[in-house]
Amino acid sequence: MSSHDNAPRDGFGSKFGALAAAAGSAIGLGNIWKFPYIVGQNGGAALVFVFLIFIVCIGVPVMLAEFLIGRRTQRTAVTAFKTLKPKSPWFLTGLLGVLTAFLILSFYSVVAGWTLHYTYFSLTQNLVGNTPELINQKFGAFVSNPWQPVFWEVVFSMLTAGIVWGGVQNGIEKYSKILMPLLFVILLMLVIRSVTLPGASKGIEFFLKPDFSKLTKEGVLIALGHAFFSLSLGMGTMIAYGSYIRKDQSLLSMTLQVSLADTAVAILAGLAIFPAVFAFGLSPSEGVGLVFKVLPNVFNQMPGGTFFSVAFFMLLAVAALTSTISVLEVIVMYMVEELNFSRRAAVLLGFLSTTLLGALCSLSMSPDSVVSTWTFPILKSASEGFSQVPLFDFFEWWASNVFLPLGGLLIAFFVGWRMLKSDIVDELSSNGQHTLPWYHVFIFALRVLAPIAIVVIFMSQLGVFK
Ligand code: PHE
Repeated sequence: MSSHDNAPRDGFGSKFGALAAAAGSAIGLGNIWKFPYIVGQNGGAALVFVFLIFIVCIGVPVMLAEFLIGRRTQRTAVTAFKTLKPKSPWFLTGLLGVLTAFLILSFYSVVAGWTLHYTYFSLTQNLVGNTPELINQKFGAFVSNPWQPVFWEVVFSMLTAGIVWGGVQNGIEKYSKILMPLLFVILLMLVIRSVTLPGASKGIEFFLKPDFSKLTKEGVLIALGHAFFSLSLGMGTMIAYGSYIRKDQSLLSMTLQVSLADTAVAILAGLAIFPAVFAFGLSPSEGVGLVFKVLPNVFNQMPGGTFFSVAFFMLLAVAALTSTISVLEVIVMYMVEELNFSRRAAVLLGFLSTTLLGALCSLSMSPDSVVSTWTFPILKSASEGFSQVPLFDFFEWWASNVFLPLGGLLIAFFVGWRMLKSDIVDELSSNGQHTLPWYHVFIFALRVLAPIAIVVIFMSQLGVFK
């Protein structure tokens, strides 16, 4: 173990602070940008349905497991595994998480940069009165411009690093508390406007009425990966945040509240977007640009549209920020605990490397840049073999669909099979303060349900089952 064993530890000042920070990590672009676009590309409600099942049966137990590891050890991922199982390869689970954090932070900051640009677009009323076609075109022109998106990506990465630089207490907590409820309110207003548009019912049906014939094997894998992505699981984020939770706080109620809030925001985002997609004659399978192409049309149909549009994209940027700080935290804490970096040096190095990788991700979408000619493999379907994609998609696909579920599998297995029962019970009951009637369900989910489901889905993606 490192020399930081006895270092005083930053903690959250209040119960609500810890909850707001964990919810802030979970709620982000995953809910509002990624969830709608993958639902749109993978047949709609059937994916939503499978996603919800994964949240309940796998996400909730794994989140509890991560909080548990973090609070028990008072350390973040790599060090936490070393503390619980010294001299074993389990720390590699934490290392996988650090690698995943690099990938996620890189592509995520690109999209977060887009939200800043759209805040600016809204402020300057650039999209007001535009037809859906023009709004589409403007998105395309923006993303294929080599430098504009990189500029916003760098700005956003600086914001992330700036907050993490300030430390847990006065950084993370302060920002998460007030702004997330506001985003929720605006989202609710968008839903109301969207579902009352003429032609909206088709979109509601697309989003809520499952047609399982549209579900592919890759769709199931994507839903699984997104359950982890959306709840910030599988890479040690919630281990790090767990280590900051006060001892008297119930980990189960934290887990349930965070999961519920996160899922609610994803569902609201879907209800804001899909009715509008159909009402404006757009295609649900637009891909990564979906939210940016659809929502400006909704704002154009709202009284006070400019105001709401500015507020929405700004708050979305803030939601992204409360997520990216939790990702950077994983990288920083690894360097501090394991490599004996000072916190500031770690922030700087994490910032520089992910900003650079992010810039490459951004350039990989611009036809004017050589980076867009580099391609990398992903395994979309076993029968078709590997497909070649740009760097952005490469990072997104491997991180979300392979590394997070793999990390989640290892964490579930670890707590289910390797941790001492006395440690688990002690931590979950806050030293005997709460009773645990659900203990066996929890352990069953970690020991059996989650590992089997994840392994079966991986095998099916590899073409093991015909
Ligand atoms: N959960 C965040 C979101 O939905 C993204 C994230 C993934 C954050 C993994 C931390 C770890 O936007």
